[in-house]
Amino acid sequence: MFFSTKELLNDALQGNYAIGAFNIYNLEGVKAVISAAEKLKSPVILQIHPAALTYGKEALVAMCLSAAEASCVPTGVHLDHSSKPEEIDLALSSGLHSIMVDGSHLDYQRNIEFTQKLTQRIHSLDGVVEAELGRISGSEDGLTVPEIEAKMTDPQRALEFVALTQVDMLAVCIGNVHGRYSKPVNLDWQRLTNIRQIINIPLVLHGTSGVPDEMVIKCIELGISKFNINTELRQAYMKTIAQSQEDDLLGLMNNVVNAMQTVVEAKLRLFGSQGKA
Ligand code: G3H
Ligand code: ZN
Repeated sequence: MFFSTKELLNDALQGNYAIGAFNIYNLEGVKAVISAAEKLKSPVILQIHPAALTYGKEALVAMCLSAAEASCVPTGVHLDHSSKPEEIDLALSSGLHSIMVDGSHLDYQRNIEFTQKLTQRIHSLDGVVEAELGRISGSEDGLTVPEIEAKMTDPQRALEFVALTQVDMLAVCIGNVHGRYSKPVNLDWQRLTNIRQIINIPLVLHGTSGVPDEMVIKCIELGISKFNINTELRQAYMKTIAQSQEDDLLGLMNNVVNAMQTVVEAKLRLFGSQGKA
């Protein structure tokens, strides 16, 4: 069943669980995510990174939309981290209407203008927008504490940003980073609490790969409704291929799907979305 991501996240927020948004690149990724979600009767989001969209174009979007429609669990399809209007145009013209408008590389004022303009356009087409305030980087190596804090989401600015841009969900920066964590994960719980207290739209955590389970649970308690996972799935995929002795292509594809499905199932259980379909 194809579902709006906004509806999935609002239900999760009301129900005190979270939705997993898994980055997929091809049919194996789609099969792994949908099979896990159907097995656990969990709502889920298939998420496409712009690099994957540039590679797979309309065919990748069509595959995700048709897999979402054919699935027996509520399934959303979402475009991740879009900082270029042409990527958003390609998504919209391909039928993908849930989009992360990512102006986080811009200064605060320009992020507002960029996000406002694209949100108006996407909303006019009945679409849904996620935006980011603060800057989630690949790693915090080499940064001083004030530099790290400057990249985090400021609660008062978040309130103003959401009011001015009218986005539907907000990605927060509370110490989360993309890819591998080179140091123990250190999330700013007070900051998340302060943001949740004054923001009434669903909140999103990027960089979930590598975040310890107990921290994920605390994030949900403090009001995160969507977790983005990419690295852990990619690692399962690539490790399976690297270690494979399989000489049959379909056999290898099935092994890859199984490896990724195992990761997705563990995350869906952790997010508390099992049985919520
Ligand atoms: O937008 C996608 C992500 O934030 C994924 O982060 O690769 O650290 O899991 P990750
Ligand atoms: Zn991300």
